[in-house]
Amino acid sequence: MPKFDNLPATVHVLDPGAGSGMLTAAVVSRLRQERQDLRIVITAVEMDQTLIPPLTETLEECAAEGGIEFRIVNSDYLEASTGLMANEALLGPFDLVVMNPPYGKLPATASGRIGVAQRLVDTPNLYAAFWALGVAALAPGGQCVAIVPRSWANGTYFQPFRRWLLGHLTLDTLHTFESRSTVFADTGVLQENVIVSGTRGDTQGSSVTLSTSFGHEDQQSYTTVPMSTVVHPQDRHSFVRFSVTPVAIPEAASYSLAQVGLGVSTGRVVDFRVRELLATDTTTPGAVPLLYPGNVRGGIIDWPLPLGKPQGFLPVDETAQRLLVPEGTYTVVKRFSAKEERRRLVAAVWDGQGPTAFENHLNYFHDQGRGLFPALAFGLSAWLNTSFVDQLFRTFSGHTQVNAGDLRVLPYPSRDDLIEIGRVLGTALPTQGALDEAVRAILTAQAAA
Ligand SMILES: C[S@@+](CC[C@H](N)C(=O)[O-])C[C@H]1O[C@@H](n2cnc3c(N)ncnc32)[C@H](O)[C@@H]1O
Repeated sequence: MPKFDNLPATVHVLDPGAGSGMLTAAVVSRLRQERQDLRIVITAVEMDQTLIPPLTETLEECAAEGGIEFRIVNSDYLEASTGLMANEALLGPFDLVVMNPPYGKLPATASGRIGVAQRLVDTPNLYAAFWALGVAALAPGGQCVAIVPRSWANGTYFQPFRRWLLGHLTLDTLHTFESRSTVFADTGVLQENVIVSGTRGDTQGSSVTLSTSFGHEDQQSYTTVPMSTVVHPQDRHSFVRFSVTPVAIPEAASYSLAQVGLGVSTGRVVDFRVRELLATDTTTPGAVPLLYPGNVRGGIIDWPLPLGKPQGFLPVDETAQRLLVPEGTYTVVKRFSAKEERRRLVAAVWDGQGPTAFENHLNYFHDQGRGLFPALAFGLSAWLNTSFVDQLFRTFSGHTQVNAGDLRVLPYPSRDDLIEIGRVLGTALPTQGALDEAVRAILTAQAAA
Protein backbone atom coordinates (compact mmCIF):
# COMPACT_ATOMS: atom_id res chain seq x y z
CA MET A 1 0.00 0.00 0.00
CA PRO A 2 2.73 2.62 0.61
CA LYS A 3 3.79 4.75 -2.34
CA PHE A 4 7.47 4.53 -3.21
CA ASP A 5 7.82 7.44 -5.59
CA ASN A 6 8.84 10.07 -3.08
CA LEU A 7 11.30 8.30 -0.79
CA PRO A 8 14.70 9.68 0.29
CA ALA A 9 17.96 7.97 -0.76
CA THR A 10 18.06 6.18 2.61
CA VAL A 11 14.68 4.85 3.68
CA HIS A 12 14.17 4.40 7.41
CA VAL A 13 11.62 1.68 8.15
CA LEU A 14 10.05 0.93 11.54
CA ASP A 15 8.16 -2.30 12.33
CA PRO A 16 6.87 -2.22 15.92
CA GLY A 17 5.60 -5.59 17.13
CA ALA A 18 7.57 -7.18 14.32
CA GLY A 19 7.00 -10.86 15.20
CA SER A 20 8.93 -12.91 12.66
CA GLY A 21 9.42 -9.80 10.53
CA MET A 22 7.07 -10.71 7.70
CA LEU A 23 5.81 -7.16 7.13
CA THR A 24 9.32 -5.76 6.87
CA ALA A 25 10.26 -8.61 4.54
CA ALA A 26 7.31 -7.65 2.32
CA VAL A 27 8.42 -3.99 2.28
CA VAL A 28 12.00 -4.96 1.46
CA SER A 29 10.86 -7.28 -1.29
CA ARG A 30 8.79 -4.52 -2.92
CA LEU A 31 11.48 -1.90 -2.47
CA ARG A 32 14.05 -4.19 -4.03
CA GLN A 33 11.80 -4.70 -7.06
CA GLU A 34 10.75 -1.09 -7.52
CA ARG A 35 13.57 1.01 -6.06
CA GLN A 36 16.95 -0.77 -6.25
CA ASP A 37 18.58 2.67 -5.92
CA LEU A 38 17.63 3.12 -2.25
CA ARG A 39 19.45 2.15 0.95
CA ILE A 40 17.21 0.72 3.66
CA VAL A 41 17.66 1.03 7.41
CA ILE A 42 15.25 -1.15 9.38
CA THR A 43 14.27 -0.88 13.05
CA ALA A 44 12.22 -3.82 14.29
CA VAL A 45 10.76 -3.84 17.81
CA GLU A 46 9.69 -7.08 19.42
CA MET A 47 9.01 -7.73 23.08
CA ASP A 48 8.84 -11.52 22.96
CA GLN A 49 12.33 -12.94 23.49
CA THR A 50 11.44 -16.20 21.74
CA LEU A 51 10.70 -14.33 18.51
CA ILE A 52 14.09 -12.64 18.34
CA PRO A 53 15.88 -15.59 16.61
CA PRO A 54 13.30 -15.95 13.77
CA LEU A 55 13.14 -12.16 13.44
CA THR A 56 16.91 -11.97 13.22
CA GLU A 57 16.89 -14.70 10.61
CA THR A 58 14.32 -12.87 8.45
CA LEU A 59 16.18 -9.57 8.66
CA GLU A 60 19.52 -11.22 7.95
CA GLU A 61 18.00 -12.74 4.85
CA CYS A 62 16.72 -9.31 3.83
CA ALA A 63 20.13 -7.74 4.49
CA ALA A 64 21.84 -10.37 2.35
CA GLU A 65 20.44 -8.48 -0.63
CA GLY A 66 22.86 -5.62 0.13
CA GLY A 67 22.22 -1.97 0.90
CA ILE A 68 20.25 -2.92 4.00
CA GLU A 69 21.04 -2.42 7.68
CA PHE A 70 18.86 -3.47 10.56
CA ARG A 71 18.52 -3.07 14.28
CA ILE A 72 16.33 -5.21 16.53
CA VAL A 73 15.03 -3.68 19.74
CA ASN A 74 13.92 -6.37 22.16
CA SER A 75 11.67 -4.17 24.35
CA ASP A 76 8.14 -3.22 25.16
CA TYR A 77 7.41 -0.65 22.43
CA LEU A 78 5.20 1.51 24.67
CA GLU A 79 7.70 1.65 27.52
CA ALA A 80 10.64 2.15 25.19
CA SER A 81 8.99 5.03 23.28
CA THR A 82 7.70 7.10 26.17
CA GLY A 83 9.01 8.75 29.30
CA LEU A 84 12.39 10.17 30.16
CA MET A 85 14.17 6.91 29.38
CA ALA A 86 12.70 6.62 25.87
CA ASN A 87 14.93 4.89 23.34
CA GLU A 88 15.83 7.59 20.81
CA ALA A 89 16.18 5.00 18.06
CA LEU A 90 12.40 4.47 18.18
CA LEU A 91 11.38 8.11 17.99
CA GLY A 92 12.22 8.52 14.34
CA PRO A 93 12.02 10.15 11.96
CA PHE A 94 10.96 7.15 9.84
CA ASP A 95 9.90 7.21 6.22
CA LEU A 96 7.82 4.04 6.44
CA VAL A 97 6.14 2.53 9.48
CA VAL A 98 4.49 -0.84 8.94
CA MET A 99 2.68 -2.62 11.72
CA ASN A 100 0.33 -5.38 12.67
CA PRO A 101 0.25 -4.41 16.32
CA PRO A 102 -0.92 -6.53 19.25
CA TYR A 103 -4.53 -6.05 20.35
CA GLY A 104 -5.75 -5.87 23.90
CA LYS A 105 -7.49 -3.47 26.24
CA LEU A 106 -5.18 -1.07 28.02
CA PRO A 107 -6.48 -0.39 31.53
CA ALA A 108 -6.47 3.30 32.49
CA THR A 109 -3.78 2.52 35.05
CA ALA A 110 -1.43 0.70 32.64
CA SER A 111 1.90 2.48 32.58
CA GLY A 112 2.09 2.16 28.78
CA ARG A 113 -1.30 3.85 28.38
CA ILE A 114 -0.31 6.64 30.73
CA GLY A 115 3.02 7.10 28.91
CA VAL A 116 1.34 7.38 25.50
CA ALA A 117 -1.36 9.68 26.92
CA GLN A 118 1.27 11.99 28.38
CA ARG A 119 3.20 12.13 25.12
CA LEU A 120 0.41 11.99 22.55
CA VAL A 121 -3.15 10.91 23.22
CA ASP A 122 -5.17 8.58 25.43
CA THR A 123 -5.53 5.15 23.78
CA PRO A 124 -7.88 2.53 25.23
CA ASN A 125 -6.29 -0.35 23.32
CA LEU A 126 -2.75 -1.55 22.71
CA TYR A 127 -3.12 -1.34 18.95
CA ALA A 128 -4.10 2.34 19.08
CA ALA A 129 -1.14 3.09 21.35
CA PHE A 130 1.23 1.43 18.85
CA TRP A 131 -0.43 3.27 16.00
CA ALA A 132 -0.18 6.69 17.66
CA LEU A 133 3.49 6.14 18.49
CA GLY A 134 4.20 4.93 14.95
CA VAL A 135 2.51 7.94 13.38
CA ALA A 136 4.30 10.31 15.77
CA ALA A 137 7.62 8.78 14.70
CA LEU A 138 7.04 9.55 11.00
CA ALA A 139 9.16 12.04 9.10
CA PRO A 140 7.20 14.78 7.31
CA GLY A 141 5.69 13.02 4.29
CA GLY A 142 6.43 9.61 5.88
CA GLN A 143 3.84 6.88 5.50
CA CYS A 144 2.30 4.48 7.99
CA VAL A 145 0.48 1.28 7.06
CA ALA A 146 -1.30 -0.46 9.93
CA ILE A 147 -3.33 -3.67 10.09
CA VAL A 148 -5.81 -2.87 12.84
CA PRO A 149 -9.28 -3.75 14.12
CA ARG A 150 -12.00 -1.39 12.96
CA SER A 151 -13.08 -0.36 16.44
CA TRP A 152 -11.16 2.95 16.36
CA ALA A 153 -13.35 4.19 13.51
CA ASN A 154 -16.50 4.70 15.59
CA GLY A 155 -17.74 4.85 19.15
CA THR A 156 -16.88 7.06 22.06
CA TYR A 157 -13.95 5.14 23.57
CA PHE A 158 -11.76 5.88 20.60
CA GLN A 159 -12.98 9.42 19.97
CA PRO A 160 -9.90 11.24 21.34
CA PHE A 161 -7.60 8.83 19.50
CA ARG A 162 -9.62 9.10 16.26
CA ARG A 163 -9.48 12.90 16.38
CA TRP A 164 -5.76 12.79 17.10
CA LEU A 165 -5.15 10.37 14.23
CA LEU A 166 -7.14 12.48 11.75
CA GLY A 167 -5.11 15.48 12.87
CA HIS A 168 -1.74 13.77 12.31
CA LEU A 169 -2.23 11.27 9.49
CA THR A 170 -3.71 12.08 6.10
CA LEU A 171 -5.67 8.98 5.16
CA ASP A 172 -4.67 7.60 1.77
CA THR A 173 -6.25 4.14 1.52
CA LEU A 174 -8.69 2.23 3.70
CA HIS A 175 -8.74 -1.46 2.94
CA THR A 176 -11.44 -3.86 4.09
CA PHE A 177 -11.85 -7.59 3.66
CA GLU A 178 -15.14 -8.74 2.23
CA SER A 179 -15.05 -11.90 4.25
CA ARG A 180 -13.76 -12.00 7.76
CA SER A 181 -13.88 -15.77 7.79
CA THR A 182 -11.47 -16.11 4.86
CA VAL A 183 -8.66 -13.81 5.88
CA PHE A 184 -8.54 -14.00 9.63
CA ALA A 185 -10.11 -17.43 10.02
CA ASP A 186 -6.99 -18.78 11.65
CA THR A 187 -6.58 -16.01 14.21
CA GLY A 188 -9.86 -16.11 16.12
CA VAL A 189 -10.18 -12.37 15.46
CA LEU A 190 -13.72 -11.46 16.38
CA GLN A 191 -14.11 -8.17 14.65
CA GLU A 192 -13.41 -6.78 11.26
CA ASN A 193 -9.82 -5.92 10.57
CA VAL A 194 -8.81 -3.23 8.17
CA ILE A 195 -5.59 -1.90 6.72
CA VAL A 196 -5.11 1.83 6.90
CA SER A 197 -2.41 3.62 5.00
CA GLY A 198 -1.73 7.29 5.49
CA THR A 199 0.85 10.03 5.18
CA ARG A 200 2.06 12.23 8.00
CA GLY A 201 0.10 15.47 7.76
CA ASP A 202 -2.22 17.58 9.82
CA THR A 203 -5.06 17.92 7.31
CA GLN A 204 -7.07 15.40 5.35
CA GLY A 205 -6.98 15.31 1.56
CA SER A 206 -10.04 15.94 -0.58
CA SER A 207 -10.32 12.27 -1.48
CA VAL A 208 -9.45 8.85 -0.15
CA THR A 209 -9.18 5.42 -1.75
CA LEU A 210 -11.37 2.60 -0.51
CA SER A 211 -10.14 -0.82 -1.43
CA THR A 212 -11.54 -4.29 -0.78
CA SER A 213 -10.43 -7.82 -1.34
CA PHE A 214 -12.00 -11.14 -0.59
CA GLY A 215 -9.30 -13.64 0.24
CA HIS A 216 -5.53 -13.60 0.62
CA GLU A 217 -4.81 -14.13 -3.03
CA ASP A 218 -7.32 -12.22 -5.10
CA GLN A 219 -7.10 -8.74 -6.61
CA GLN A 220 -8.30 -5.72 -4.70
CA SER A 221 -10.96 -3.48 -6.15
CA TYR A 222 -10.56 0.26 -5.65
CA THR A 223 -12.73 3.34 -5.65
CA THR A 224 -11.72 6.87 -4.86
CA VAL A 225 -14.32 8.82 -2.93
CA PRO A 226 -14.51 12.34 -1.48
CA MET A 227 -13.08 12.46 2.04
CA SER A 228 -16.30 14.18 3.13
CA THR A 229 -18.17 10.91 2.56
CA VAL A 230 -15.74 8.99 4.75
CA VAL A 231 -15.68 11.49 7.62
CA HIS A 232 -18.79 13.66 7.42
CA PRO A 233 -17.77 17.28 8.10
CA GLN A 234 -20.86 17.83 10.27
CA ASP A 235 -20.28 14.64 12.31
CA ARG A 236 -19.11 15.82 15.70
CA HIS A 237 -17.99 12.27 16.53
CA SER A 238 -15.74 12.09 13.42
CA PHE A 239 -16.70 8.49 12.58
CA VAL A 240 -14.60 7.04 9.80
CA ARG A 241 -16.80 5.16 7.33
CA PHE A 242 -15.38 2.33 5.30
CA SER A 243 -18.41 2.01 3.08
CA VAL A 244 -19.88 5.04 1.42
CA THR A 245 -22.58 3.20 -0.52
CA PRO A 246 -25.60 5.34 0.23
CA VAL A 247 -28.17 3.57 2.38
CA ALA A 248 -31.74 4.51 1.48
CA ILE A 249 -33.03 5.66 4.85
CA PRO A 250 -36.55 7.15 4.71
CA GLU A 251 -36.29 10.93 4.79
CA ALA A 252 -38.68 11.19 7.70
CA ALA A 253 -36.02 9.59 9.90
CA SER A 254 -34.22 12.84 10.55
CA TYR A 255 -34.39 12.94 14.35
CA SER A 256 -31.74 12.23 16.92
CA LEU A 257 -32.55 9.97 19.84
CA ALA A 258 -32.45 12.99 22.13
CA GLN A 259 -35.04 14.73 19.93
CA VAL A 260 -37.27 11.67 20.24
CA GLY A 261 -36.90 12.28 23.97
CA LEU A 262 -35.31 8.91 24.76
CA GLY A 263 -32.05 7.64 26.18
CA VAL A 264 -30.24 4.33 25.80
CA SER A 265 -28.09 2.59 28.39
CA THR A 266 -26.27 -0.68 28.88
CA GLY A 267 -27.79 -3.29 31.18
CA ARG A 268 -26.48 -2.76 34.70
CA VAL A 269 -26.13 -6.35 35.88
CA VAL A 270 -22.65 -7.79 35.30
CA ASP A 271 -23.55 -11.30 36.39
CA PHE A 272 -20.15 -12.57 37.53
CA ARG A 273 -19.78 -9.58 39.85
CA VAL A 274 -23.07 -10.26 41.66
CA ARG A 275 -23.21 -14.06 41.72
CA GLU A 276 -24.85 -14.05 45.15
CA LEU A 277 -27.79 -12.04 43.74
CA LEU A 278 -28.60 -14.44 40.91
CA ALA A 279 -31.50 -16.87 41.27
CA THR A 280 -31.84 -19.96 39.11
CA ASP A 281 -35.30 -20.56 40.52
CA THR A 282 -37.42 -17.60 39.39
CA THR A 283 -40.06 -18.44 42.01
CA THR A 284 -37.58 -17.62 44.80
CA PRO A 285 -39.38 -15.08 46.99
CA GLY A 286 -38.32 -11.54 46.03
CA ALA A 287 -36.73 -12.58 42.69
CA VAL A 288 -37.30 -10.26 39.73
CA PRO A 289 -36.73 -11.11 36.06
CA LEU A 290 -33.11 -11.05 34.87
CA LEU A 291 -32.95 -10.72 31.10
CA TYR A 292 -30.12 -11.95 28.89
CA PRO A 293 -29.65 -11.64 25.10
CA GLY A 294 -30.82 -15.27 24.90
CA ASN A 295 -34.26 -14.09 26.02
CA VAL A 296 -34.60 -12.02 22.83
CA ARG A 297 -36.76 -14.08 20.48
CA GLY A 298 -38.36 -12.76 17.28
CA GLY A 299 -38.92 -9.18 18.38
CA ILE A 300 -40.14 -9.91 21.88
CA ILE A 301 -38.53 -11.00 25.11
CA ASP A 302 -39.42 -14.46 26.18
CA TRP A 303 -38.88 -15.00 29.90
CA PRO A 304 -38.13 -17.24 31.69
CA LEU A 305 -36.29 -19.56 29.34
CA PRO A 306 -34.04 -22.56 30.04
CA LEU A 307 -30.92 -20.79 28.78
CA GLY A 308 -28.49 -22.22 31.27
CA LYS A 309 -28.34 -18.72 32.78
CA PRO A 310 -30.07 -17.68 35.99
CA GLN A 311 -33.29 -15.94 35.05
CA GLY A 312 -33.90 -14.32 38.41
CA PHE A 313 -32.25 -11.47 40.30
CA LEU A 314 -32.50 -10.83 44.03
CA PRO A 315 -32.55 -7.11 44.86
CA VAL A 316 -31.72 -7.71 48.50
CA ASP A 317 -30.55 -4.22 49.40
CA GLU A 318 -30.39 -0.66 48.10
CA THR A 319 -27.20 -1.27 46.09
CA ALA A 320 -28.81 -4.24 44.34
CA GLN A 321 -32.03 -2.28 43.74
CA ARG A 322 -30.06 0.35 41.88
CA LEU A 323 -29.33 -2.29 39.22
CA LEU A 324 -33.03 -2.54 38.35
CA VAL A 325 -35.27 -0.59 36.01
CA PRO A 326 -38.81 0.26 37.13
CA GLU A 327 -41.78 -1.68 35.75
CA GLY A 328 -42.52 -0.63 32.19
CA THR A 329 -42.11 -1.35 28.50
CA TYR A 330 -38.54 -1.17 27.17
CA THR A 331 -36.97 -1.65 23.76
CA VAL A 332 -33.80 -3.68 24.09
CA VAL A 333 -30.96 -4.31 21.64
CA LYS A 334 -28.45 -7.12 21.93
CA ARG A 335 -24.89 -5.95 22.42
CA PHE A 336 -23.52 -8.98 20.59
CA SER A 337 -25.38 -10.61 17.74
CA ALA A 338 -25.12 -14.36 17.37
CA LYS A 339 -23.22 -15.71 14.34
CA GLU A 340 -26.33 -17.10 12.71
CA GLU A 341 -28.14 -13.76 12.90
CA ARG A 342 -28.19 -11.87 9.65
CA ARG A 343 -28.51 -8.46 11.28
CA ARG A 344 -26.10 -6.88 13.72
CA LEU A 345 -28.93 -4.89 15.23
CA VAL A 346 -31.36 -7.21 16.96
CA ALA A 347 -34.10 -5.43 18.89
CA ALA A 348 -37.05 -6.66 20.96
CA VAL A 349 -39.55 -5.37 23.48
CA TRP A 350 -39.81 -6.24 27.16
CA ASP A 351 -43.22 -5.64 28.59
CA GLY A 352 -43.10 -7.38 31.94
CA GLN A 353 -44.53 -7.00 35.38
CA GLY A 354 -42.60 -5.33 38.14
CA PRO A 355 -39.02 -4.07 38.26
CA THR A 356 -36.55 -5.85 35.99
CA ALA A 357 -32.82 -6.44 35.72
CA PHE A 358 -31.12 -6.14 32.33
CA GLU A 359 -27.88 -8.06 32.04
CA ASN A 360 -24.86 -6.19 30.71
CA HIS A 361 -25.02 -7.77 27.24
CA LEU A 362 -28.23 -5.89 26.51
CA ASN A 363 -28.78 -2.20 25.76
CA TYR A 364 -32.15 -0.76 26.72
CA PHE A 365 -33.99 2.37 25.61
CA HIS A 366 -35.74 4.35 28.30
CA ASP A 367 -37.56 7.59 28.91
CA GLN A 368 -35.54 9.31 31.65
CA GLY A 369 -34.81 5.93 33.22
CA ARG A 370 -38.43 4.77 33.00
CA GLY A 371 -40.33 2.61 30.54
CA LEU A 372 -41.69 3.74 27.16
CA PHE A 373 -45.22 4.22 25.94
CA PRO A 374 -45.85 0.66 24.60
CA ALA A 375 -46.57 1.64 20.97
CA LEU A 376 -43.39 3.75 21.01
CA ALA A 377 -41.36 0.78 22.29
CA PHE A 378 -42.74 -1.50 19.56
CA GLY A 379 -42.26 1.14 16.86
CA LEU A 380 -38.68 1.72 17.97
CA SER A 381 -37.99 -2.01 17.97
CA ALA A 382 -39.45 -2.34 14.44
CA TRP A 383 -37.32 0.60 13.25
CA LEU A 384 -34.12 -0.91 14.67
CA ASN A 385 -34.93 -4.31 13.16
CA THR A 386 -35.22 -3.00 9.59
CA SER A 387 -32.48 -4.07 7.21
CA PHE A 388 -31.78 -0.48 6.13
CA VAL A 389 -30.96 0.67 9.67
CA ASP A 390 -28.73 -2.38 9.95
CA GLN A 391 -26.96 -1.41 6.72
CA LEU A 392 -26.52 2.13 7.97
CA PHE A 393 -25.03 0.80 11.20
CA ARG A 394 -22.53 -1.27 9.21
CA THR A 395 -21.28 1.79 7.33
CA PHE A 396 -19.74 3.10 10.53
CA SER A 397 -19.26 0.02 12.69
CA GLY A 398 -17.21 -3.02 11.84
CA HIS A 399 -17.87 -4.46 15.21
CA THR A 400 -20.10 -7.38 16.04
CA GLN A 401 -20.66 -5.39 19.22
CA VAL A 402 -23.41 -2.76 19.42
CA ASN A 403 -22.70 -0.15 22.06
CA ALA A 404 -25.17 2.31 23.53
CA GLY A 405 -23.04 5.08 21.97
CA ASP A 406 -23.62 3.59 18.49
CA LEU A 407 -27.38 3.58 19.07
CA ARG A 408 -27.26 7.22 20.17
CA VAL A 409 -25.88 8.37 16.84
CA LEU A 410 -28.38 6.57 14.58
CA PRO A 411 -31.17 8.60 12.96
CA TYR A 412 -34.74 7.98 14.14
CA PRO A 413 -38.23 8.82 12.91
CA SER A 414 -40.14 11.33 15.04
CA ARG A 415 -41.76 10.15 18.26
CA ASP A 416 -45.21 10.31 16.59
CA ASP A 417 -44.01 8.30 13.60
CA LEU A 418 -42.45 5.65 15.84
CA ILE A 419 -45.73 5.38 17.72
CA GLU A 420 -47.58 5.02 14.41
CA ILE A 421 -45.20 2.24 13.34
CA GLY A 422 -45.81 0.51 16.68
CA ARG A 423 -49.59 0.88 16.34
CA VAL A 424 -49.72 -0.46 12.80
CA LEU A 425 -47.28 -3.33 13.22
CA GLY A 426 -48.31 -4.35 16.72
CA THR A 427 -46.28 -6.79 18.72
CA ALA A 428 -45.55 -9.50 16.16
CA LEU A 429 -42.51 -9.01 13.97
CA PRO A 430 -43.25 -9.76 10.28
CA THR A 431 -40.65 -11.26 7.92
CA GLN A 432 -37.69 -9.00 7.10
CA GLY A 433 -38.99 -7.95 3.68
CA ALA A 434 -42.47 -7.22 4.99
CA LEU A 435 -41.08 -5.27 7.96
CA ASP A 436 -38.85 -3.09 5.75
CA GLU A 437 -41.70 -2.40 3.37
CA ALA A 438 -44.22 -1.65 6.12
CA VAL A 439 -41.90 0.77 7.95
CA ARG A 440 -41.05 2.57 4.72
CA ALA A 441 -44.72 2.78 3.71
CA ILE A 442 -45.78 4.19 7.10
CA LEU A 443 -43.05 6.83 7.06
CA THR A 444 -43.83 7.85 3.48
CA ALA A 445 -47.55 8.11 4.28
CA GLN A 446 -46.84 10.12 7.44
CA ALA A 447 -44.53 12.49 5.54
CA ALA A 448 -47.20 13.06 2.88
CA ALA A 449 -49.99 13.64 5.45
C1 LIG B 1 -0.20 -9.34 15.86
S1 LIG B 1 1.47 -9.80 16.09
C2 LIG B 1 2.15 -9.27 14.57
C3 LIG B 1 3.48 -9.85 14.23
C4 LIG B 1 4.01 -9.43 12.86
N1 LIG B 1 4.13 -8.00 12.72
C5 LIG B 1 3.14 -9.99 11.77
O1 LIG B 1 2.42 -9.22 11.12
O2 LIG B 1 3.16 -11.18 11.57
C6 LIG B 1 1.98 -8.60 17.28
C7 LIG B 1 3.41 -8.77 17.74
O3 LIG B 1 3.68 -7.75 18.72
C8 LIG B 1 4.45 -8.29 19.79
N2 LIG B 1 4.20 -7.46 20.97
C9 LIG B 1 3.14 -7.54 21.83
N3 LIG B 1 3.21 -6.58 22.75
C10 LIG B 1 4.33 -5.87 22.49
C11 LIG B 1 4.92 -4.73 23.08
N4 LIG B 1 4.35 -4.13 24.12
N5 LIG B 1 6.06 -4.25 22.54
C12 LIG B 1 6.62 -4.84 21.46
N6 LIG B 1 6.09 -5.93 20.85
C13 LIG B 1 4.97 -6.43 21.35
C14 LIG B 1 3.97 -9.72 19.88
O4 LIG B 1 4.94 -10.53 20.52
C15 LIG B 1 3.73 -10.08 18.43
O5 LIG B 1 4.88 -10.62 17.85
